[in-house]
Amino acid sequence: MSLIMDAIKLSISEKLLHNLNYPFRTIPAMKIAKLAVDHNFSKKYKGIGTFMIANAELLAITCNTESCAARFLTVDADIEHDKGVLAFYEKNGFIPNTELYNKNRTTISMRKDIYK
Ligand SMILES: CC(C)(COP(=O)(O)OP(=O)(O)OC[C@H]1O[C@@H](n2cnc3c(N)ncnc32)[C@H](O)[C@@H]1OP(=O)(O)O)[C@@H](O)C(=O)NCCC(=O)NCCS
Repeated sequence: MSLIMDAIKLSISEKLLHNLNYPFRTIPAMKIAKLAVDHNFSKKYKGIGTFMIANAELLAITCNTESCAARFLTVDADIEHDKGVLAFYEKNGFIPNTELYNKNRTTISMRKDIYK
């Protein structure tokens, strides 16, 4: 897994969903830039991907107390190679971002509120 700092634009209704009552549209985030589990290990040990997401969440929360800000974990779910990754991220609490949603995309921009 590799993580980078990010920012996402949310609509008014998306902000309401997360009780974000301030006038800015752009919200700081930490992005999962790469995530992959070696096929042999994912067969042998179930839950490594989920474990890495939990770790990213902890890192983002720690980051908030020490250095940079993040309200969300974000990811561009790569549905071109495997449509199932959408279900994987949904099971881990991610929801699609309406701002970047586009039927023809090969990735789907998603977010997870780390304080929910
Ligand atoms: C996606 C990936 C990281 C998931 O890792 P993993 O260790 O297999 O995932 P977990 O064991 O934590 O799975 C958690 C749940 O998601 C489901 N899930 C995981 N990968 C899935 C997939 N590709 N399609 C459908 N469901 C999936 C699991 O069945 C499990 O469901 P359950 O709790 O109901 O049993 C791994 O399959 C992978 O490396 N894929 C190739 C690279 C990739 O697509 N990365 C994401 C790019 S955005």
